[in-house]
Amino acid sequence: MPTYSQPITDLIQKRFSCRKYSKASISVEMREKLREYMTHLCIGPFGTPMRFDLITADDQDGKALRGLGTYGFIQGASGFVVGALGAGQQNLEEYGYRMEQIVLAATDLGLGTCWLGGTFTKSTFARRIELQDDERMPAILAIGVIQDENSARNGVMRQYVAGQRRIPWEELFFDRLWGKGLSPEVAGEYSRPLEMVRLGPSASNKQPWRIVQTDGFFHFFIQRTKGYRNLLTRLVQVDDMQRLDMGIAMCHFELTARELGLKGKWGIVDHGLDLPDDQIEYSVSWVLTS
Ligand SMILES: Cc1cc2nc3c(=O)[nH]c(=O)nc-3n(C[C@H](O)[C@H](O)[C@H](O)COP(=O)(O)O)c2cc1C
Repeated sequence: MPTYSQPITDLIQKRFSCRKYSKASISVEMREKLREYMTHLCIGPFGTPMRFDLITADDQDGKALRGLGTYGFIQGASGFVVGALGAGQQNLEEYGYRMEQIVLAATDLGLGTCWLGGTFTKSTFARRIELQDDERMPAILAIGVIQDENSARNGVMRQYVAGQRRIPWEELFFDRLWGKGLSPEVAGEYSRPLEMVRLGPSASNKQPWRIVQTDGFFHFFIQRTKGYRNLLTRLVQVDDMQRLDMGIAMCHFELTARELGLKGKWGIVDHGLDLPDDQIEYSVSWVLTS
């Protein structure tokens, strides 16, 4: 797997959802680098097959793409990263994980990105990647040259979704018991990976990740939002978006841990924890290894 040229923690802190792009197209060199990077991401951390492709405005139907670039809240993206995901128990988390690696690779190149979960026309992009019957495309990325970092970072949409707000540590990370806040001091060397989870992007900025540290484990849970799981949200697949968010959390956590030389692996385990209600769903565990 190719590595990034900058520390992962710098990339995570530089990244933001860019919704305003310059007209300039992504350079040929950058496109090649991104495409090359994507060829390594054909299988998720739990073994689910997937594939990604970069569509840019210089492709044959650039005009049609420019039309798509103004879709929803995104202005003028000159490219999109699309993906096709195979079946698997953890497939949405895996897709979130791998797509976020692409986000960080783009950030490393100085490009802007924005995850698009709801506001894109699936059929148009599905055709572009020749989506098969046994595949799905849960989300895509807008990608391009950032127009003006300052205004892009603080745009209307970001304010609208309170995009810069992050939930405080003690409400996200717990020490052995659900609800008992974990401090960075107690988390020790794992405080960096946890902080990098906290800074990650999430659908509607809901930050659904909750993590409980126990002896030898970090157990990851999804905090569902009350009233979020009715029929309508199921139909528009908001639930699925939150599973992508968990994959993003896994990506930030693992890449930061590896950069720090901390050893572990992902597993589905019997966590044995008492959970306060059924809005909390177990996702995955980071199992410390020596
Ligand atoms: C799975 C997923 C789907 C998203 N879908 C959209 C979207 O459809 N439109 C949009 O403008 N932003 C979308 N976002 C971006 C979030 O709103 C953004 O990550 C969040 O508000 C935090 O802001 P930041 O990324 O600038 O830190 C999505 C993010 C994720 C992770």
